Amino acid sequence: MKDIINLNIRIKEDFILLPINDADPISIITFRDETDQSILQFTASITQNTATYWLPIDISNYKGHHITIQIASNNLTPDIKNVIDNTQYLPSNNREEYRPEYHYSAPFGWINDPNGLFYKNGVYHLYFQHNPFGTKWGNMSWGHASSKDLIKWENHPVALLPDEMGEIFSGSIIIDKENNALLGSDMTLAFYTSAKENQVQCLAYSNDNGITFTKFNENPILKDEDKKDFRDPKVFWHNGTKKWIMALATGQSITFYSSSDLKGWERLSEFGKGIGSHKGVWECPDLFELKSGKKKKWVLLVSINPGGPNGGNATQYFLGDFDGHTFTADPLSYPLWLDYGRDNYAGVTWHNCPKNNKTYIGWMSNWDYANDLPTQHFKNVMTLPRTIDIATFNKQLILKTYPIKEVKKLRIEKKDFSTRLLNRMFIIKSFLEDNQGAYEVILEFDIVENTTSSVSITLFNENNEKLNFNLDLRKYLLTTNRSASGITKFNKKFSQGDIIAPLEKTNRYKIKLYIDKCSSELFLNKGKIASTNLIFPSEPYNNIRIDVSDGVIDITKFRIYKLADLNN
Ligand code: FRU
Repeated sequence: MKDIINLNIRIKEDFILLPINDADPISIITFRDETDQSILQFTASITQNTATYWLPIDISNYKGHHITIQIASNNLTPDIKNVIDNTQYLPSNNREEYRPEYHYSAPFGWINDPNGLFYKNGVYHLYFQHNPFGTKWGNMSWGHASSKDLIKWENHPVALLPDEMGEIFSGSIIIDKENNALLGSDMTLAFYTSAKENQVQCLAYSNDNGITFTKFNENPILKDEDKKDFRDPKVFWHNGTKKWIMALATGQSITFYSSSDLKGWERLSEFGKGIGSHKGVWECPDLFELKSGKKKKWVLLVSINPGGPNGGNATQYFLGDFDGHTFTADPLSYPLWLDYGRDNYAGVTWHNCPKNNKTYIGWMSNWDYANDLPTQHFKNVMTLPRTIDIATFNKQLILKTYPIKEVKKLRIEKKDFSTRLLNRMFIIKSFLEDNQGAYEVILEFDIVENTTSSVSITLFNENNEKLNFNLDLRKYLLTTNRSASGITKFNKKFSQGDIIAPLEKTNRYKIKLYIDKCSSELFLNKGKIASTNLIFPSEPYNNIRIDVSDGVIDITKFRIYKLADLNN
């Protein structure tokens, strides 16, 4: 860095706003207090050209004091002081065209993987990979939000910021009810990867239910100098062996460790050789037991990038048994995919869920283009929270994922369309009077004539933009096509053709589709197949067209709900 600029500022208001243009070089910014102690350090593309957005930094703790903003940069002059603002700023005012209405998005900045999901005292916590200082990946921290119903989220201050050990990568949280770690009973413990030249596992603890954390002073708690990819610890209690287990992504395998005190970890076994997809690096494992009726299975989720069924990242899973030492997969036709869409990655489940079922959330994006999405103040969002369950698909055991039932609370207006026999096509124009781009479509039909070769559903707007789903009843494939869905050119990997999933051989199909400004989540037959795909239409699709080829279907239910805007 060429120049060091020191700006002394008296803090009168809550926020510092820094002008950013992602096309400009990156500067290193250090905030220092009156005793010259560093209070915050990060990188950002500060600009003296036109700012494309303003980076808000909450500095309210220093009101009435002076701070020094030190900028090491190649492109700035001390005149930058004239454009830095100390102001009142309401993050909640930050609305833009593609801001979701009922999915979680951070008020400002970049997000990726969900981290540290846990439930305690009636509250679900969601942490996530976060750049609080920009809308591209960087300065990796754990952002934090919480919710009583997994629908309406309250934002909290950033929980973990990078330190001398590196950036804070993905990980998990458990509640240490019995004080096994001797850090205090009922302590909330976060396990995360510190990433610098090497990746090592670290521990932080919280005695205020996850709002603030103290990093353990003997970090790291687990390292392996031979492994470059060594990350994303998922910790859980194994009742059979009365031990804590950690599942860790280790290159193209998952390694399991066990511990009694949550600080010392012993290697148990490694899973992955010769099974599943190996077209990319394995990341973000989750291992849990799932009980469904009389069935009990251990489930291992493994995210992989690249190597997904439609390119880029996706989450594969294995069903089998875990005896506290080794995971043994049932002989199924792997790879199996949790979601066939382009935009559901790194999902994991909540620890300590009140109900017996497993609740899951994923990152609704793809590393292929996540940094280029056409949004300004926020980048990337989460999927709807989903319930994971066991099901059968063409007689084979699979996992299904379905939006949690609380999602029904979002319905604010119902439109029923007449049921009918259909042998060609029909169109419904302007299906919602005031369509803001947040709605749910339910379509159920029986195949009346088995000559029927396809059923196609198209959402479209007045600008010729469309999102199409096609059920191919000859090849038994479900195809999503978003190549003409709106803004697609920001990255050529976004607009690629068909996004393909298998289709169950049956006579009855039940479709549920959630649209929320920039996203589509399609669930077929109660979530046996999910396809999650981002979209950026220039205006909401408010027309729907159904085409039937070579046969007849009987539409038994056709309903659209307008869904609530939770930003209001
Ligand atoms: C998955 C991932 C993780 C890593 C994190 C870094 O998307 O690559 O393996 O911990 O993102 O942000």
